[in-house]
Amino acid sequence: AGVFTYDPGFTSTAACDSTITFIDGDKGVLLHRGYPIEQLASKSHYLEVCYLLLYGELPAPKALEDFEHLVTNHTMLHEQMMYFFRGFRRDAHPMAVMVGVVGAMSAFYHDSTDITDEHQREVASIRLIAKMPTIAAMAYKYTIGQPFVYPRNDLDYASNFLRMCFAVPAEEYEVNPILSRAMDRIFTLHADHEQNASTSTVRLASSSGANPFACIAAGIACLWGPAHGGANQACLEMLKEIGTPDRIPEFIARAKDKNDPFRLMGFGHRVYKNHDPRATVMKESADEVLELLGVENNPILQVAKELEKAALEDPYFAEKKLFPNVDFYSGIILEAMGFPTSMFTPIFALARTVGWISQWKEQISDPQLKIGRPRQLYLGEDARDYVDIENR
Ligand code: CMC
Repeated sequence: AGVFTYDPGFTSTAACDSTITFIDGDKGVLLHRGYPIEQLASKSHYLEVCYLLLYGELPAPKALEDFEHLVTNHTMLHEQMMYFFRGFRRDAHPMAVMVGVVGAMSAFYHDSTDITDEHQREVASIRLIAKMPTIAAMAYKYTIGQPFVYPRNDLDYASNFLRMCFAVPAEEYEVNPILSRAMDRIFTLHADHEQNASTSTVRLASSSGANPFACIAAGIACLWGPAHGGANQACLEMLKEIGTPDRIPEFIARAKDKNDPFRLMGFGHRVYKNHDPRATVMKESADEVLELLGVENNPILQVAKELEKAALEDPYFAEKKLFPNVDFYSGIILEAMGFPTSMFTPIFALARTVGWISQWKEQISDPQLKIGRPRQLYLGEDARDYVDIENR
């Protein structure tokens, strides 16, 4: 009984209220706690944005220093957790490893799984934000057969991650400050994005009272899909497949063909119908990084730019309001930094962890919290009598 709204894909259903992130999709506006993403990407840095998302205000200098210190001191993973990595096939996708290892954190960090205890919630939040780069880097090292590189507490968040991915024991490794800044900006641009599929997954999982590590593992699993976070990997693979600008018309034609399942990866968004402000910053960053690295004539960047231009000039994309999204340019920067495509989505996951955690904290602090339990439109058989096996 009762009247339900039928809304597959939740195109018009608000499932919660929130004070964290605001998006105006028609105007291309993205605000975290009121601050525009463009300002945060150019003036702030990732850990400061983490603080802002988690606690609602920009930190005073001492508060920021304490927060950075706290996060830095939790970057190490329990040594026993290495056995989890070793249980995976060596060619496992790092996202598969991350889903497993983050889920397994609830088997290690028992002292931060009681969600009714405010202190434990805080510890779980810090642990997840601090350990995610270590887990992502170890997943990478494992799949390429290199020894794990442990975090170094004198480095900032982004530099530490780059070092854990690219340093080789017994060899010198200097973090390039240009790459570190670009990495930090990529983290910042992915930090939160209100009720997207993975965040909604985290909220739904947590509505049953599940522990934070289990909820974040669910978010990572959801992010993996090519329509969501997996689009960055799919986009760069598409750009490589196109290869040269003369093949662009063929791929545009395929994207428009209703009988062909192919879509232009890195294009389109459920909410942004004008432009994705993150993509604008990401494009500038790609230009900057490639120039500083002396690879501005990168053929993939040329294909990306010409593909963007061709799509924007095409009436199909204009009518359907399809614009490049955050995933269109991020892969180009990540590839120039030396990451394989399989690491693109893990990087998205580690950066989005703070958004998931902030939304999780907001939700479980709500005294009105109800378990998430959508209804359905049943289209199956009417009631009928069981048929004994000899009569079928
Ligand atoms: N290429 C070609 N046609 C497209 C594309 C595309 N990338 N995106 C949407 N369309 C068409 C689609 O075929 C549909 O046409 P019609 O109305 O004739 O059936 C119309 O545009 C609306 O698309 P939709 O699938 O109903 O829109 P949605 O809001 O459900 O999906 C989306 C949004 C992001 C999943 C989709 O645009 C897409 O699949 N894009 C490619 C994957 C991608 O880049 N994802 C990253 C999203 S941003 C970062 C993140 O969330 O992680």
